[in-house]
Amino acid sequence: MATARKRTPSKPEPEPKPQAPTASSSAADPPISPPKYGAILKLSCFFLILYVYLVARHYEIDPELKGSILINAGLSLFGYFATVRLIPVASRYVLRRNLFGYDINKKGTPQGSVKVPESLGIVVGIVFLVLAILFQFSNFTADSNWLVEYNAALASICFMILLGFVDDVLDVPWRVKLILPSFAALPLLMAYAGHTSIIIPKPLVPYIGIEILNLGWIYKLYMGLLAVFCTNSINIHAGLNGLEVGQTVVIAAAILIHNIMQIGASKDPEYQQAHAFSIYLIQPLLATSLGLLSYNWYPSAVFVGDTFTYFAGMTMAVVGILGHFSETLLIFFLPQILNFLLSLPQLAGIVPCPRHRLPRFDPQTGLLTGTNDGTLVNFFLRLFGQKTEKSLCILLLVFQALGCCFCFLLRWLLAGWYK
Ligand code: UD1
Ligand code: MG
Repeated sequence: MATARKRTPSKPEPEPKPQAPTASSSAADPPISPPKYGAILKLSCFFLILYVYLVARHYEIDPELKGSILINAGLSLFGYFATVRLIPVASRYVLRRNLFGYDINKKGTPQGSVKVPESLGIVVGIVFLVLAILFQFSNFTADSNWLVEYNAALASICFMILLGFVDDVLDVPWRVKLILPSFAALPLLMAYAGHTSIIIPKPLVPYIGIEILNLGWIYKLYMGLLAVFCTNSINIHAGLNGLEVGQTVVIAAAILIHNIMQIGASKDPEYQQAHAFSIYLIQPLLATSLGLLSYNWYPSAVFVGDTFTYFAGMTMAVVGILGHFSETLLIFFLPQILNFLLSLPQLAGIVPCPRHRLPRFDPQTGLLTGTNDGTLVNFFLRLFGQKTEKSLCILLLVFQALGCCFCFLLRWLLAGWYK
């Protein structure tokens, strides 16, 4: 398979001096295609209308809490525009540094030989961090414990962005890649002072004999494993234009709806704070991801890189841990779990694992055919027949959304009986 990505050669060469993007140099670089606002508008309307309705009308939320959520939403909106504005600028810089990839699912067509700027997740990561740091100034009600956990969460996310970018630039071997998130999770695990006990599901209480089980350090191990799973499972459910960011947008929207439902249904301020905490991190994640998606949607003008997949996975793991809803989070990750199970034989080395496990593209018809590589993408193609890249991506995102609906249904059915 053709090398997907070219990097700066390791042999010493006369270093091209990094130049400031002057009017003449930016005119020399071919501009990337403009953002696809139409696709983004449709996707955000679909997922966000319910959330906005729940926040603004359905639930009676404490005015102070609602104020903080709205300030955060305002900052996030600014983050969306900043991301849209910065991506074309950053694209020019990464291309100049030979950080690009070829669109493998277009190989054999003119689009397949275009150098697509890679690792634009770095823009999203930086904008997100700036917003998340600035937000602390507006959240006056936060106590010091809250701030410690919030900043530890940001340290973990920042560490993950750094390691993701290192991976994009250096192309770290695949098995090392797998464990990177466990290092990034360390700041959070060290600062975590919350409870380490779990509530035993009611149907199991008679057998176990206790209602609450303190897991101690095992709970922290679980948190670390959750971070490793969320990051890698997003990274390996990939390879179609828009899929990496699309799945993040769908899961993030589901997390927001879940959080606001929990805040609306509870009167306990501590419980509400835990869920508000994840809203403060997920709103900026969603907004900046939408900015990136407007360039990454089919046909992709930029690639997101492992910087983005790791960053998004870590942010969602962190909110699941600190918001104490990791079981719900795992059900939102249902397609990723299926993809992981399908991938296991290749990940474990039982079946040979090529560098890219993508479908086969036919330049004549423009359709993708499933290969024998164990991924959900290939499984869907084998199940539903040949598809275009765009329609397959939409199908997978609809499946992701149906998984989230299933999770809400399950929670509703089991409420009271399970816990
Ligand atoms: C993971 C997958 C790999 C898949 C790759 C695609 C495993 C174990 N690894 O590897 O099978 O091929 O993601 O993202 O499952 N690309 C496209 N179209 C896209 C997105 C990416 O052609 O829409 C190609 C580009 O050449 C891009 C490259 O994939 O440069 C990025 O691959 P990278 O993220 O480095 O792959 P991995 O995360 O290591
Ligand atoms: Mg990747």
